[in-house]
Amino acid sequence: MYVCLCHAITDSQIKQAVGQGDASLADVKKRLGVASQCGKCARMATQIIQNQLEIE
Ligand code: FES
Repeated sequence: MYVCLCHAITDSQIKQAVGQGDASLADVKKRLGVASQCGKCARMATQIIQNQLEIE
């Protein structure tokens, strides 16, 4: 599922980034560029990151 349409970033990519050590939106933003354009995906991306951190 696409989370960030501006950069075509999927939830899987975000989960993978967390698996590689990212622990915040700022980290994933740096790695993938998520939420660096319109910012509409920031809330959903943050939720995915938090859920993933709880699972790991
Ligand atoms: Fe992610 Fe626009 S949808 S920056």
